[in-house]
Amino acid sequence: MRIDILTVLPKLLESPFDHSILKRAQNKGLVEVNVHDIRDYASDKHKSVDDYVYGGGAGMVLMIEPIANCINKLKSKTEYDEVIYMSPDGELLDQKLSNQYSLSINLLILCGHYKGIDERIREHFITKEISIGDYVLSGGELAAAVFCDSIMRLIPGVISDETSALTDSFQDNLLAPPVYTRPANYEGHEVPPVLLSGHQAEIDKWRQEQAQARTAERRPKLDNLK
Ligand code: ADE
Repeated sequence: MRIDILTVLPKLLESPFDHSILKRAQNKGLVEVNVHDIRDYASDKHKSVDDYVYGGGAGMVLMIEPIANCINKLKSKTEYDEVIYMSPDGELLDQKLSNQYSLSINLLILCGHYKGIDERIREHFITKEISIGDYVLSGGELAAAVFCDSIMRLIPGVISDETSALTDSFQDNLLAPPVYTRPANYEGHEVPPVLLSGHQAEIDKWRQEQAQARTAERRPKLDNLK
């Protein structure tokens, strides 16, 4: 998979891709992530990327020209499955959407900032808008990192234990069951005995029951989606 991310704040995206599973995915050659600074595509001498809103109002809007220059250049070399704009107006991200986008070959992701982006970018370049929740972030960078994490970890080989991502919360519209590690007894707080029993069938049954009970208690709507 190749992911190109367009942003006016490339530094915000350095750390999320430079550690743990997302770093390993790139080191293994399973995903290539390229972050592009929109400012590099500005055409005036001040390298402007934003301007005042037509019609008046507070806040600055990202201009169409630098973004169009960048997208056009990338599209001349790569065919994208989707040109995504991270936006609170978009489709709400859930595990189903992540599963779907984890199968992509090439994704282009645009991060907005300030008051938003010139609407013509959405009309002429964007093929999909994705939101990570019903709240407003200062920009799309953190949302893009969340989205990329959720899809990259699903690519076969990214997580060493291949079944691990498939047993994540939400994969069966169920929350994950509780997990424990040593010590078996911490100041009188004991690990459920079944987990120490060595009976795998019993353990699997317990985990399934716990997942169902936890989902019914905490996220009953999720359970109804099944
Ligand atoms: N940009 C600002 N807020 C956002 C959100 N909730 N989801 C995705 N992108 C955003």
